[in-house]
Formats: sequence, structure tokens, C-alpha cells
Amino acid sequence: MYKSMHLTLQQLKLFESVARNNSFTRAAEEMHLTQPAVSIQVKRLEEQVGLALFEQIGKRIFLTNAGTELFNASGDILDRIKELEDTVADLQGEVKGPLQLSVVTTSKYFMPHILGAFLQVHADVEPRLKFTNRANVMQRLYDNLDDFVVMGQVPKDQQLEAHPFLENILVVAAYPDHPLTGKKNIQLEQLIKERFLVREAGSGTRMVVERMLEKHNLAIDPYMELGSSEAIKQGVMAGLGLAVLSLHSLMLELDAQQLKVLDVEGFPIKRRWYAVHPKGKKLSLVARTFLDFILENSEEVLERTANLATNK
Ligand code: PGA
Repeated sequence: MYKSMHLTLQQLKLFESVARNNSFTRAAEEMHLTQPAVSIQVKRLEEQVGLALFEQIGKRIFLTNAGTELFNASGDILDRIKELEDTVADLQGEVKGPLQLSVVTTSKYFMPHILGAFLQVHADVEPRLKFTNRANVMQRLYDNLDDFVVMGQVPKDQQLEAHPFLENILVVAAYPDHPLTGKKNIQLEQLIKERFLVREAGSGTRMVVERMLEKHNLAIDPYMELGSSEAIKQGVMAGLGLAVLSLHSLMLELDAQQLKVLDVEGFPIKRRWYAVHPKGKKLSLVARTFLDFILENSEEVLERTANLATNK
């Protein structure tokens, strides 16, 4: 006899996350739960469906046929619920409720400030900001997991809509006593002989530098690869090598004379930051309001924070 399934939304969300990430561990991280808690819920879901949803081969997990069906259905259901929440908020006409964004790691030097200024005006917004590198942000953008994302290098794709805002200025940073500090017009050929600290593969900053050097048929042979601009900055200050970093990340250290910007041919590389979402995506009222806020106010907010930070 047909037995109706008793599924909870939370189970569907957890299952969707495990299936998308192909991992119980990553899903647990994403959902801020422990791995056993995720496993138990997925097990309960399997009991309700009456079929296995995953099969494990070696260390990897794969969706079964039933799992694939449920994955497609949960995508539809969760999208629909998000739309419903957005519509209700729109109808209420109040800027409140969740705001889900993924932003590239380098934007940690300005996005919290912009968000802070926005929350002073719209205190009922519940922001969730995921900081990760460009490759992960891209993946989330194509999976349509966020209201919008913030990144520097937008792929040429007709299916995306990109709104430029602040400038991103990339410079070569060195510790103050580095032999190249103070030299004029350092040539790239000379620069790449130096020890370089670089970001991990998947970083947008790294991609820009590699492309720029490629145009000159040059490449850096990284001395050390570090997973964050903050770690790289500390490495540069410790005299481990040079690095190309966004000026946003260097303001305090430059002001305190703990780092210097080198005068290198082709630098600074001037780029923009973009708020990006799939073309035609219906943004929630909260997302639309925040996007407008970014486009209109980010420069002023940043100027204000920079002045405060440097006591000007
Ligand atoms: P990153 O991205 O933080 O991954 O280096 C920066 C960018 O997109 O320009």
C-alpha cells in the first residue's frame, strides 16, 4: 500500500547540501551542524523514502537513482520556498529577512563595512556572508545559491548580470627594507626573479597576476603558496618575499609604514569589484535594496572607514 512520506524541510535542506557538495563533512560545515547530526537526518529521510539515497564507493559518495530524483525535487521545493519568502517580504514592503551573499575573500576588507552601514538603516535584515575564493564563489553563482555574489573577475558569460562598484587596485607589496623598495620603474623581468608569496589556485587575485605576466610571456615561480591574503601580508612583513595584493588589504600597514608598494612596470593593475547574479534572477526586496546601497554608497562608506582607521 502507498505510504505517504513525512519529510521535513530541514531534512531536504541537509540532503540537498550533501548531494551538491558530494560530502557529509562539507554539508555539515555549510549548515553549521556536526557531521553525525547530518548523517542521522539523511538516514531518517532514507527511511521515509524507503530507498537508499547515496551509495558509497571507496571514499566517495554517489547519488542513487532515488537520490537523484529527490535531489531534483528538493531543488525545486527549496527554490519555491525561497521565492515564497521573497514574495511575502515584498508584499509586506519591509526590508527585512535573510540576505545570503557569497563574496571573494579579498572583499573582507570592505564588504563588512558596507554591510555594517546598510544594517544601521535596515536593522531587521539577517545577513549571511560566505567568504571564499573566486572558484567557490563561481560555483555557488552557477548553482544559484545566493542572492548575489561579489567578485573581481567576472567570466564573459551572457547569462550573468554584473554591476561594477568600487575600484580594486592591485599592487606589489614589499617589506620596507627590501632592496627594490624606492627603486623607480622596476622591470617585470627583474621582479619575477624575486621570491614571491602567492595565493592558492582558485584565487581571483592570483588569476589576474598570472594573466598579466602571461601577456609578457613571463611567469612567477612561487616561493610559497598561502591560502589567504592576510597570511601573505604577514609573510611579506616578515620578509619572506614579495606579493601582489589588493590595496584594500594594505591600508593599515602602509599607513604604519610596515609595508611599501613597489614601483613596477604595468602596476598598479586597476580592476573593479562587481555584484553579480544570474541574468533575469528575481532579486528579493532585501537583495535589491542592498545592491542599490552598494552601488550608491560603497565609496563614501569606505572613505569614512579609511579616515577613521588612519585618524584623519
Ligand atoms: P580572491 O578574488 O579573493 O579569490 O583572490 C579576488 C577577485 O575576484 O579579484
